[in-house]
Amino acid sequence: MSSSASTPATPVTVPSVRANKVRSGSAPLVMVTAYDAPGARIASEAGVDLILVGDSLAMVVLGYDDTLQVTIEDMAHHTAAVARAKPHALIVGDLPWLSYHLSAEDTVRNAALLIRAGAEAVKLEGGTKRIPMIEALVDAEIPVMGHIGLTPQSVHAMGGFKVQGRSSDAALQLVSDAKALEHAGCFSIVLEGVPSEVAAMVTDTVNVPTIGIGAGPDCDGQVLVYHDVLGIEDRMAPKFVRRYADVKSVSVAAIADYSREVRERTFPGPDESYHLSHEVAEALHLYGAGDK
Ligand code: KIV
Repeated sequence: MSSSASTPATPVTVPSVRANKVRSGSAPLVMVTAYDAPGARIASEAGVDLILVGDSLAMVVLGYDDTLQVTIEDMAHHTAAVARAKPHALIVGDLPWLSYHLSAEDTVRNAALLIRAGAEAVKLEGGTKRIPMIEALVDAEIPVMGHIGLTPQSVHAMGGFKVQGRSSDAALQLVSDAKALEHAGCFSIVLEGVPSEVAAMVTDTVNVPTIGIGAGPDCDGQVLVYHDVLGIEDRMAPKFVRRYADVKSVSVAAIADYSREVRERTFPGPDESYHLSHEVAEALHLYGAGDK
């Protein structure tokens, strides 16, 4: 399904994503996060299949140390900004912590805020224990992407951002969670921070696509955070990140050049300034004798 930047856009839909298994001959899905309209336009022009308005917003845009600080209102605000760019990619809105933990009714109401902001599907974290919430969303015609493995909203329960599924019991639990998510109606499942072998087992087991991040090459797709791909975020470099650009260095150099030219009074120049007409300038006695 993935297209290059020069390929004409074909609409990406929930059914087309659901059918996208590599073992059936599909190309791996490409998902990237975006949080605003320029980011969504860049991702869309690059030809990604899915844009995730991730709750990583909290860390890469809003400066928090974990994802627990963003609210459904924050997520709706940024989902709307992404949607205004009208990307060809499918927009997935991330349900933040505590927006789907209290009741099925609360979950549907919160998900509806993301859908009304422009998301075409929502994502939530967790395995078997989330089944009632997933079923309620599917009942309300809201497509759901699952997310298991290293689930950042469980950072305190996990004792940090730690790779999951390393023991055989934990690996089998992930397989069983994935089957439960598929059975409940998830159209795809993010696998985060798990050994490649476990991701391959899960991917073999389920009939919906798995989308990996720190889960090795054998998933049906990959997702990375926008700021990591572009090298805007350079404070942390998790093992699974490959940086495709160094936008932070380019940006610092550009702003430094601008600062220098302002201080040297070489910016703005005549071509970057507006000017009065000759007649008005003359009427205002703005010309010296030498200017005429
Ligand atoms: O919020 C996010 O960016 C995510 C991805 C890492 C999958 O959930």
